[in-house]
Parts: sequence; structure tokens; C-alpha cells
Amino acid sequence: MPSPTRLLALAALLISVTAIVPPSQKGAPNQTPDDFTPATPDNDLIAQTANQVDQKSAPPVDAPPNADVPPTSVTAIDGTVTNSTIDGVSASNSTRRRDVGRLGRRQSKFEKIFDGLPADQHDASIQGTAYLTYTVVNNATYNVQACLDWCAGIDECVFVNVYYEFNNYLLDFVFGEKSNLKCAAYGDIHTAAEKLNFGGQQSYPQLGNETVPLTYITQSSGWGLSGIKEAVTPDGYELVFGPTGGANNAPGYMGFAFIDKYDVDACAALCNGRGVDANGGGCAYFNIWRAVVDGIPTTYTCSMYYLVADESTAVNFGQGSLVVTLSRGYARKSVLIDGGFEGYTECDDFCFTASYANWIGTSSSGSSLDASIFFYPPYAHTGHGSGLLGSAPGLNNQTGTLKPAQPLTTDAGVNYVVQCFMSSAFSGPKIEAAAKVDIMWNGVRVGGTSGFTEYALVEASVVGTGSDELAFVGGASPAWTFIDDCKLITPYFVTLKIVGTMLEKAICGSADASCFRPALVTAAFCHTIQIRTLRMLSALEVDRIRVAEIDAQIRDLEHSLATLRFYIFCMPTARKECRIRVAEIDAQIRDLEHFLATL
Ligand SMILES: *[C@@H]1O[C@H](CO)[C@@H](O)[C@H](O)[C@H]1NC(C)=O
Ligand SMILES: *[C@@H]1O[C@H](CO)[C@@H](O)[C@H](O)[C@H]1NC(C)=O
Ligand SMILES: *[C@@H]1O[C@H](CO)[C@@H](O)[C@H](O)[C@H]1NC(C)=O
Ligand SMILES: *[C@@H]1O[C@H](CO)[C@@H](O)[C@H](O)[C@H]1NC(C)=O
Ligand SMILES: *[C@@H]1O[C@H](CO)[C@@H](O)[C@H](O)[C@H]1NC(C)=O
Repeated sequence: MPSPTRLLALAALLISVTAIVPPSQKGAPNQTPDDFTPATPDNDLIAQTANQVDQKSAPPVDAPPNADVPPTSVTAIDGTVTNSTIDGVSASNSTRRRDVGRLGRRQSKFEKIFDGLPADQHDASIQGTAYLTYTVVNNATYNVQACLDWCAGIDECVFVNVYYEFNNYLLDFVFGEKSNLKCAAYGDIHTAAEKLNFGGQQSYPQLGNETVPLTYITQSSGWGLSGIKEAVTPDGYELVFGPTGGANNAPGYMGFAFIDKYDVDACAALCNGRGVDANGGGCAYFNIWRAVVDGIPTTYTCSMYYLVADESTAVNFGQGSLVVTLSRGYARKSVLIDGGFEGYTECDDFCFTASYANWIGTSSSGSSLDASIFFYPPYAHTGHGSGLLGSAPGLNNQTGTLKPAQPLTTDAGVNYVVQCFMSSAFSGPKIEAAAKVDIMWNGVRVGGTSGFTEYALVEASVVGTGSDELAFVGGASPAWTFIDDCKLITPYFVTLKIVGTMLEKAICGSADASCFRPALVTAAFCHTIQIRTLRMLSALEVDRIRVAEIDAQIRDLEHSLATLRFYIFCMPTARKECRIRVAEIDAQIRDLEHFLATL
């Protein structure tokens, strides 16, 4: 039996807000919910970009053997072709181990994939993706075994191309090995159709008017591991599906990157370092797959999502001549379990509860349902579940508390970001002006929201202690607040860094191709743009350590820019040649700054 005071309070509420049917009675939100539909991949853009990148290579004629395998690089981001390191675009402080990201574990022996042509005929070596490095092996015989043994010692190596290269001056006279039997290592399997490097380069020095012999190749054979099935799951992720021939076509898509080899760890680093999507928060899932165009491995895609996807949406098998292969999905482990309240599945239409396995709602004393969990898609940001703060039946104006059923297992001393979408719009702008929610971390307020708002991302920075209590406290019915899609992730470093890198590449790239032939001028403009981008990043003060780092970079760049300026302005030809382009570039920089400012 409600107490008389309670009834009075209820009567008062009913009088003041007669029009409002509370959430517990399936009331319609006053404000039409945001009508955003989480994006799905732009498969046309991905296919188009796959046709633009060229990731195929072979051992350069002038490179010494036994160079280290370079780190995985990014060849395109969101449709813009680039050439950057993972750290350059993601800024995640990656502690990646080199040996975990390769295409597959060795499960079987090398098999011959194609033979070389007879020794007396000119042949061609592989021009293919995921080239790693090369060595030369003793050329007294056609020494395939030595090449395979060498490959077995390189973690990423799953394929070798063995061939003789003639008329290479460096092999013949300079490098210590004195052998022309090349053994090239690749991180993917290639076929005879990719024998496209016919040599024909000049390596011997020109002496007088003598004809210089050009390089040529003979006996080019290919050897690969047959069982390249497994990939090692990166730290902080779990395998959701794969490998299959279908890429995800799932909602919550944030963008994509191409990388130069099938490197699961590199994708994880890109996902970790990806900024937030305004509608969806941080990256929670990635899908890595290999694009095979006309039967030939062409690029390796990392598609990033703020919603976790699964195999049911892995239905993009390719388009045109592009075929999807080796597709795998990985979910980023959020320390926060069921942050989207999707685990509450008591009904399939409309129901609510104070608590369930993953979340506990607590009310003020003597009251119930001041915090609750709803199954009802119209209340949710995504999916069907959401949390509600404030008396669900509208019986009082007391705050409620929603917290995960278990303390969060964090890493002590590590920085995290709490991300949550919150909506205080149910009762309309006037009543919801009183809405307020605090994000509490071990009892201390670390952030929150107040006033009328439709679903918007709310974030708070916290530091883990090993076992932490997260709670959302608030609501004062009828100023209710819904929360949904909460995550606890390690900090990202602003999206601007990615945007900045892209635009910087675009502008510096175009400068390169235009009149800025004098390298110094090009360098100076790239420096200028870099400095400006960095300044903007520094101003954001996202991360203290980063800011100090960025400031140091700015000082370095400013110093070298000053030096460059001196040379440029002492070179009248450069100045004259580029006067028009300078104005153009300046306009581009202004556009860039304007664009960045709007983000
Ligand atoms: C990418 O950049 C690196 C370092 O600047 C350079 O060595 C490499 O040749 C570049 N690759 C391409 C494809 O431009
Ligand atoms: C990156 O990690 C290294 C080693 O873990 C650490 O020394 C360094 O301070 C970190 N840098 C940033 C910017 O967090
Ligand atoms: C082995 O390689 C060296 C150095 O390139 C070359 O001079 C020699 O002719 C090669 N021997 C054979 C049998 O091809
Ligand atoms: C090379 O140049 C010299 C002098 O310029 C000339 O006498 C000779 O005929 C030339 N040889 C060939 C093969 O062209
Ligand atoms: C809550 O309701 C009580 C009684 O109806 C009222 O006196 C009080 O001002 C309200 N508090 C807020 C924060 O609205």
C-alpha cells in the first residue's frame, strides 16, 4: 500500500505532467528518437580503392640481401591512398609483437606451387603483395632447400620465389655473398600468373659508349605452405568468426584501411587507435579480409565498426572481379560486459526490470524502479535494450543507480575512457532541462550529462585500479535519462590525427607532382602543414603525454622549416615557378584548417 505522502506526490506529478505516459506504461518519447541508421560498409569505395593501390613488389635490383622485414604499413585509409605506418595513422601506443600477425601458422611443409622455365629461357620473378625481404643462397646448385630453411626462420614468411638474376652488378661484384640465386620471401601465396618482373634494368655502370647488359631472370619457381589457416588472435580481442569468404556488411561501420600484408595485429592497432564515431563511439570490432582481384591477391582490408558484428552479416563475397577471401571478425574486449543492455531478453516486445544478470538497478530507500532496464527498441540507441534512470512508473523524482553486476576487471594504473550514449529527451525540452546523470568511478564523480539532450556520446576518463566500480546515478522523473551502448576502452587518440595524415598526404602528394620540383620547397610545405596539424592536435589536449610529445615535434619541425625557408628564398627560380601554386596551397591549408575546426 503506498503511503499517503507517496500518493500526494503521485497526484502532484499527475497534475503537472498529465500528458506524459511514463516509460513503464510504454509511453512514447516526446522527442522523436534520433533517426540515425548506423552506416554499413561502402563496398563500392573499397573496391574502387582496391583498384588504385599497388601493393605488389619484388626484391629491388639495388637492395642488399637480408634486410629486416619492414613493419606493416597502411596503403589506404577510407578511400584515400597513402603510405604510412600503423602508428602514423592510429597513434595507439602499440606494443605489437612482430611474430603474431602473419597469415597463418606453419601446419605443413612447403609445396612447389610453380616451376621455373628451362635454364636456357628468360623467365620472370613474382611481382606480388606482402613482399617481405630477400636473401641469396649458394648458387653452386639450384638451392631451393636453403631458401626454404631461411624462410622458415621468418615469422611472416609463407611463400618463396627462387630465381637467378643475371647482370646485377651488386650481386656479381659488391655484396659479400657473391651469388645471383635470389630467394624472395612473401607473406602471402603467389602463383605463376604473377610472374611479372622480367628484369631489363641497368645495373652495370655505363663505361664510355659500350652497351650495358640488362638484368634478366631464369628458373623462377615458387614454393608455399599449404596449411595457412590459423591466425593468432591479437591481445584485447576475441575471434568472432572466420576464415570465410564473406566480409561483414554490418551496421556500425566506421571506415576501412588497406594494409600491405595480412596482419591481424595491425588491424587491431588501427581499431584501437581509431577515433570515436559521433554516433557510435569507439571501435569495437574489426573485419580483416584479403581482396583477390582476377585471381590475384591485391590488398588486405581492415574494416572497423563501433558495433560488434558476427558471421550472420558476413555476406559480402565481393563484386565484379574482386573476391573476398580469408575473412575474419574480431571483437574488442570491452572491460564492461553488455554495455548495450542487449543481454536483457525477458520478452521480445516490451518489458522492463530493476536488475538482470549483467546490470543492477538500485532505488532510493522505500522506492523501486528508480533505475531500470528496458527491452523496447524505441527507447534504445541501438538494438532493443537500454537503461533508464528516474522512476520508471513516474512515482517520484528520486535518483536511481545503474551499475554492472560485477566490479570491472581493469589493469591497474591504465587509463580508460567510459563511453556511453545518453538521452534526456523523453519528456521534452522543458521538463528534461532538469535531467542530470553522474558517472561515478569508485564513488567519485568523473563525468556526466545534464539538461535536455537526445542520444549523444558522453565520455569520462578514468584510471583502472584492478577492480573498479562503475555507476550511473541520476534521473528525476519526469526528467528521465536513458543510457545505452556503454563501453570502457583504452584511450583513443583523436580522429583528427587520421584526418590530418590523410590531408597532409593529399596536399604534400599533389605538391610533389606539381611545380615543386625543388625538393626543399616541397619539404617546406609539408612541414608547414604538419606543424599546423600538430598545433591543432596539441590544442585539443587529449592526452598529456601526447601533448608534450607533439610540442616537441612542433619545435623540431619549426626549426627545420626555418632552415628550409632560408634556402627557398635564396632560390629565385623556385620562388618564381611556384608563386601561383603557393596561393593555391595556402587556400587548401585554410580549407583544411576550417575542416579540422568543424570536427
Ligand atoms: C613508403 O614510404 C617509405 C618510407 O618513406 C618508402 O621507403 C617506400 O618506398 C614508400 N612506398 C611506396 C609504395 O611509396
Ligand atoms: C608508449 O609505450 C612505451 C613503452 O610501453 C612507454 O615508454 C611510452 O611512454 C609510451 N608512450 C606514450 C605516448 O604513451
Ligand atoms: C653465382 O653468382 C655469382 C655472383 O652473381 C656469379 O658471378 C656466378 O656466375 C654465379 N654462378 C652460377 C653458376 O650462376
Ligand atoms: C664509341 O665512341 C668512339 C669515340 O666517340 C667511337 O670511335 C666508336 O666507334 C664508338 N663505338 C661504338 C661501338 O659506337
Ligand atoms: C521532488 O519532489 C518533491 C515533492 O514533490 C519536491 O519538493 C522537490 O522539489 C522535487 N525535487 C526536485 C529536484 O525536483
